Amino acid sequence: MLLGVNIDHVATLRNARGTIYPSPVQAALLAETAGADLITMHLREDRRHIKDADVAAVRAAIQTRLNLEMALTDEMLAHALSVQPHDVCIVPEKRQEITTEGGLDVIAHFEKVALFTQQLTQNHIRVSLFIDPDKTQIQAAKDAGASVIELHTGAYADASHEKERQMELEKIQQATQWAASLGLIIHAGHGLNIHNVADIAKIDAIEELNIGHALIAQSIFIGLPESIKQMKNVIFQARCGRMGIL
Ligand code: PXP
Repeated sequence: MLLGVNIDHVATLRNARGTIYPSPVQAALLAETAGADLITMHLREDRRHIKDADVAAVRAAIQTRLNLEMALTDEMLAHALSVQPHDVCIVPEKRQEITTEGGLDVIAHFEKVALFTQQLTQNHIRVSLFIDPDKTQIQAAKDAGASVIELHTGAYADASHEKERQMELEKIQQATQWAASLGLIIHAGHGLNIHNVADIAKIDAIEELNIGHALIAQSIFIGLPESIKQMKNVIFQARCGRMGIL
């Protein structure tokens, strides 16, 4: 199973201060060194985290694959065709949402999805559609010409009790079976973390997971002690120098 590391929230942290760090490029390279199979980034229409220049810089720097998540708009299509990521994942986007809520409605936007899929595919960019685990959406994705679907695991991840979690898990398992029977490549993602990823990872036909927020969040706790040690060390060395100890 492949792991796509979504680095959007490295940019969220950078943008909070308007600094040039932490750098998404540095994060992407570190992710690759740590075993990421691909790098995922979402260029949102409001550019709230990843900016245009980040996509180009990451595309040029990485050695694995770039999976660009984007909305179904002409601006994004033009951007993807110029940056040439290896994969594009078409996602729904609403300005006011905190994160991508729900899957793309392929049925409602069928003609546009089919057209974008054709144009991207002709330009050697593999297209994935981010959809809910729903049979009719999966069939529409197939009919629109996509070779890949990414199943939205948000409802599973957000389930507030065990019965609901099991129900959402079954939906994903059944959707996966159905998609596999249509010959689609199946990815999954959204809201996955170390506590809920195992049941999804057990579904054989899912080939790739895309995970972002939880990975960046967990890295604070794994990395904070080392970061504090580094800072204390620099302060200590400076003090020792002032006092003529070093
Ligand atoms: N997959 C898709 C298509 C997404 O839009 C996102 C969020 O940008 C993710 C995966 C990753 O979700 P999370 O940040 O919750 O791990």
